[in-house]
Amino acid sequence: MTRLRVGVIGAGAWGRNHVRTVAGLAEAELAAVCDADAKVRERLARQYPTAHVTADVADLLGRTNAVVIASPAATHARLALQCVEAGKPCLVEKPFALSRRDAESVARAAADARVPVLAGHLLLFHPAVERLRALVQGGELGRVYYLYGLRVNLGQIRADENALWSFGPHDVSVALYLLGEVPVRVAAHGKSYLQPKVEDVVFLTMEFGSGVLAHVQLSWLDPHKERKLTVVGATKMVVFDDMEAREKLRIYDKGVERPPEYRSYGEALSVREGDIFIPRFPTSSRSRRSWATSSAWHAVRSRPARVRRTGSAWSPCSRRRRARWRPVGRRSRYERGHADTCRRPGREGPGPLRPDRDRRTRLRRPAARDGVRARRLPRPGV
Ligand SMILES: NC(=O)c1ccc[n+]([C@@H]2O[C@H](COP(=O)([O-])OP(=O)(O)OC[C@H]3O[C@@H](n4cnc5c(N)ncnc54)[C@H](O)[C@@H]3O)[C@@H](O)[C@H]2O)c1
Repeated sequence: MTRLRVGVIGAGAWGRNHVRTVAGLAEAELAAVCDADAKVRERLARQYPTAHVTADVADLLGRTNAVVIASPAATHARLALQCVEAGKPCLVEKPFALSRRDAESVARAAADARVPVLAGHLLLFHPAVERLRALVQGGELGRVYYLYGLRVNLGQIRADENALWSFGPHDVSVALYLLGEVPVRVAAHGKSYLQPKVEDVVFLTMEFGSGVLAHVQLSWLDPHKERKLTVVGATKMVVFDDMEAREKLRIYDKGVERPPEYRSYGEALSVREGDIFIPRFPTSSRSRRSWATSSAWHAVRSRPARVRRTGSAWSPCSRRRRARWRPVGRRSRYERGHADTCRRPGREGPGPLRPDRDRRTRLRRPAARDGVRARRLPRPGV
């Protein structure tokens, strides 16, 4: 089998991860890297002596079969069109484009030329997100009521994309992937504090046809670093915390129930507390990036025969399980802490509908090392 000759455009803070990942893939070869900065090119030439290093995108396209675009957001659409015109499949880092018009022009060109173009939504390849999707789609959470995400930290402050474009694609891509539908209503409210016309903080709300409400809080002007998504279903609730080194996913077997028979309104709703499950996953961000990049390249290799439309951009369809690329994203919201630390009844969770049952207790057992283990909450009064 010939090795896929891959090129990377933009080898800055993030693009260098793609360069390293491609260089390490058995089935691909880092054929060329293009960067506008002479210092970056100098470093690349030293680190990857067998790769062709250039400042000219056309030069890179002439030497490669497929391309990763990891240059600044404002260049994505133009470079993606250039790749499509040259017939080279490309993985475009998020944000896919900075306007719907740009995104659609790339999507149209890709569909017309039958050239796969992927958005770099790496979280769709995260094992915790895969598990979360299986829970949602398999009905284990019951009917999904709402979800919210928190993606905040201090820096990196960008000048050419706001916090929504910088962070939001992750949350939007995950929400659409989990729910399997596109929103019917979207609202985003942001504020620029540090630079004119570049929003540092954005609150995004999406409403889906199924009734699910989603909210995301996005900011690079925040004292905390949080990467969290909470999904609240009728029978179970799940928290995906990507800042946790090991316990990324917590499945709370709790909710509010309406018994089939009750005498008064007060008895109609009762809070149910149950176990907390913590599945175990491989967790290093390095391997996650590798999954994303290598999975994408497997998909590129399969050269999908058809292209379908999802949301506002075209995404190739492939029979391969991992080949699922979603359109440009946005969206979000937050939360702090959850039920494995002591909470006063009524402060969080489904509410003090039955205060006698609503007791939360600190968990003391250490994390499970392997497989899926349950953490049992002590029974009220025990
Ligand atoms: N998927 C993720 O989790 C993730 C994380 C961080 C950044 N990103 C995205 O990756 C992209 C790059 O971010 P970054 O932090 O590496 O930025 P960066 O500014 O550190 O690097 C960009 C690089 O592109 C080069 N460049 C600029 N214009 C170019 C052009 N026309 N042709 C070739 N090279 C060009 C610059 O010289 C620089 O080396 C952004 O779109 C960003 O949103 C994605």
